[in-house]
This record gives sequence, structure tokens and C-alpha cells, in this order.
Amino acid sequence: MELPFAESWKIKMVEPMHKSTREEREQWLKEAHYNVFQLKSEQVYIDLLTDSGTGAMSDRQWSALMLGDESYAGATSFYKFESVVKRIFGMKYVIPTHQGRAAENVLFSYLVKEGNIIPGNAHFDTTKGHIESRKATAIDVTVDEAKDTQLEVPFKGNVCLKKLEKVLTENKGNVPFMVLTITNNTVGGQPVSMRNIKDTVALCHKYGVPVVMDSARFAENAYFIKTREEGYADKSIKEISLEMYKDVDGMTMSAKKDGLVNMGGFIATNNKEWFEGAKLFCIPFEGYITYGGMNGRDLNALAVGLEENTEFDMLHTRIHQVAYLAGKLDEYGIPYQRPAGGHAIFVDADTVLDCIPKEEFPAQTLTCELYLEAGIRACEIGYMLADRDPVTRENRFGGLDLVRLCIPRRVYTDNHMNVIAAALKNVYDRRKEIKRGVAIEWEAPLMRHFTVKLKRLG
Ligand code: F0G
Repeated sequence: MELPFAESWKIKMVEPMHKSTREEREQWLKEAHYNVFQLKSEQVYIDLLTDSGTGAMSDRQWSALMLGDESYAGATSFYKFESVVKRIFGMKYVIPTHQGRAAENVLFSYLVKEGNIIPGNAHFDTTKGHIESRKATAIDVTVDEAKDTQLEVPFKGNVCLKKLEKVLTENKGNVPFMVLTITNNTVGGQPVSMRNIKDTVALCHKYGVPVVMDSARFAENAYFIKTREEGYADKSIKEISLEMYKDVDGMTMSAKKDGLVNMGGFIATNNKEWFEGAKLFCIPFEGYITYGGMNGRDLNALAVGLEENTEFDMLHTRIHQVAYLAGKLDEYGIPYQRPAGGHAIFVDADTVLDCIPKEEFPAQTLTCELYLEAGIRACEIGYMLADRDPVTRENRFGGLDLVRLCIPRRVYTDNHMNVIAAALKNVYDRRKEIKRGVAIEWEAPLMRHFTVKLKRLG
């Protein structure tokens, strides 16, 4: 008999979880203004808000912490970390930052000027925020296939080369760089193929435009290339990673995802001018360039995390769990962005709650219902997160309206996945009874989803 699948790690430390009653959750959610970001973590049973900084570190990472060198300048921890980044990504210059958005802030402070156009395959919200706050414009050039949640194609995060070329020809001299996000978080943790990475970089370079890789989930992207793209089955994740970055000009990294740490990030580049320019912003914003907002011990843990998460078994365990949850939703007929992505399942809220008009935020409503059902905290990746158009101030209803069930790395078991799926099924079964959504009572001008105050309609 063939042995069944099992995780590639075992558990050494555990953390208790908190259950609650529906009455308690009704009260807590009301106090949180129907915004799950405003809940306290002890009010949450299974936390699927994000996979960012919420993973479990390994024994090797914890032991690396003890060897941290906390010298202000020139710490051994920095050089250890720098050598791993250079080896995995093939980049020459490395600047640590305290997380991904800090890397964006430092690099974009140097690169982005008012009026610039920056194309990308669905910029993450902080990336877009750092572009728009500098009065530049982010233009989405993701393939149209990404919008059809039921379409089963292997690389739905890809760049549409036609759309990209149009932006490049119409804005000659005004595109400081293009952002290539792997995996494409906003459209469902969908990967970008090696072919598409190479074609995108070649097209940008033809127009003299450099490419910055938003690399938060680069290892998951490499896993999908290995398992889905012809010609890569026999290559290691490390070989694939190196190939993905071969001609890219620079990267910003949220190490809280595929770096397997709770806090951290960095910029890496082959462009000396960018390095010199970004350094000048790193020092006032983040700190001296050999720590850039991180402790020596955290740099050590990150160096180990990058090594571990570029091993196939670690990635396979993770992506297998996401696929397991997807299989459960298939069993119950719940629609989600297909195929299952790398870090999360994105439930198609527009389809589930098709009686609720977009003005009443279906995905936000479904997020609330799932919390009320079982204390599961998911995250709206939809109309609320899309913010308003900076010029017209209208809500941006053009994209997808999804509920993200984001799985932290090495934290939950498949039994927890069963609970999540069952809770969602219960909500799904009574979807026709959910007739009204939510309305905004107060919102911030930018990145409103973190702090928005809502009321329940009906
Ligand atoms: N880029 C991508 C693709 C991301 O998913 C994130 C964060 C960032 C940049 C910013 O990094 O959080 O370290 O500052 N995504 C988290 C999420 C928050 O929940 O998807 P950060």
C-alpha cells in the first residue's frame, strides 16, 4: 500500500485556542463596527486574517535567534542574512527593512515621482498606497482570465503582455519601473509562470523600463512553476528561484510570508544606483543599512527561514493543506477562485451572496457571517480593500469581491481545515436568508479596510 501524505515537520510547542458563543461574537463584532481587523485576537477561534508574520518558526530558527549579533553596524547577523539573499536571488546589493511595505517606502521614495505611471499585475494594497500617496498611478495589467473565478488555468497571476505594452508605449519616459508580484496575492495567490516572468522582463527592458519583483510569496511561486510548468519538474526550488530573478532589476520582500519570520523585509537589487539611492532613505526611515529596522537575531532567523522555505517538502506540506481545504469546499459546492492558490482560498463572495448589491459589500458581509458562525476570522479582499478612485472618489467596483481564507504557515492542522469548511458550508446553506449587507459609517481616505466603521443593514 502506498503511504499517505503527511506533514514534513512535527510539533514541539503548542498554543491554546479560544472558543466563544454566538452571543459573545455578536457583541464583539458590533463593538468592532463589523470590521474584523478591530477584533481582539482572543475573540477569534481560527485566525485566517493573514499568512503574514503569523507562521510558526522552526527549532532551527529559534536557535539561530540566540546567536544574533546586535551590533549597531556591521553585525555578523547582517552578513549571514546578506549572503543567503545573494545566493537565493542572485542579487548584489541588499538592504534590510522592518517589513515589506517599508521596503516599498524606501525604494519608492527614491524611484517614484509625481505623475509617474507604474504598471503591475494587481499591486498589493500597500504597494498601490505607496504609489498613489506619491501622486503617481498604478495600472493593473493582469491577464483577464484572473477575473473569471471558475476558469481553471495554471498561471492566473500572469501579466497580460498586450496590456503592459500599451501602458509602456503610451507613457514613454514616465514609467520608472514595473512591479511584478509573485504570487499574485490580490487575484487569489495565483502564480506567474517562468515564461511570463521572462517575457514581461524582456518587454519592459525593450522599453528601457526596469522590473521590481514584489517577492512576498516567491517560494510558493517557484513551487507552482516546478509542479505546473513544463520543463521544471526536475529542478530544485532554489534553482527555479534563481532563474526567476535572473534578469530582474530589483525586489522588495515581505519576509513575513515566504521568509518564515514574524517580522522582517528587505530590498535587493543589482542596480548600484538604486542601492545608493535607496540607502539614503533607509537610514532616516528604517535605520542604519546593516540592520534597517530589524534586530540581529531576527536577521539570523530570516536567513534560516529563507533556506528552509526553499526546500520542496516545506512548500509541499503547505500547499497540500491549502489544496485540502479547497477539496472540502468542492465537496460542498462553494465557489472560490480556481485553481486553489498558494497561501489561501479566495471565496467568490459575489456569487455566494448574489442577492446583496455591490454597494453593500458582499465579501465584507460574508466575512462577518463566517465570524459569527464559528469565530473564524477571514479577510475581505474586495470592494472595501479596493478603496476609492483617488480622482473621482468613487468606490472601485471593477475587480473581484473575495473573502480570503488565508492559511498561516505550520500553524493549523487539517482538522482545523475541516472546521473552516464546515462553518462556511453552514453559512452557504443559509445564504438566501442573508438579504442585506453593510454600509460605511466612517472611512479613512487611504487603506480604509483596516479601520473602516460599518453598520449592518436590514
Ligand atoms: N506585497 C505583497 C504581495 C503582500 O501580500 C504584502 C503583504 C506586502 C507586499 C506588504 O508586506 O505586510 O510585510 O508590509 N501582505 C499581507 C497580506 C499583509 O495579508 O496579504 P508587509
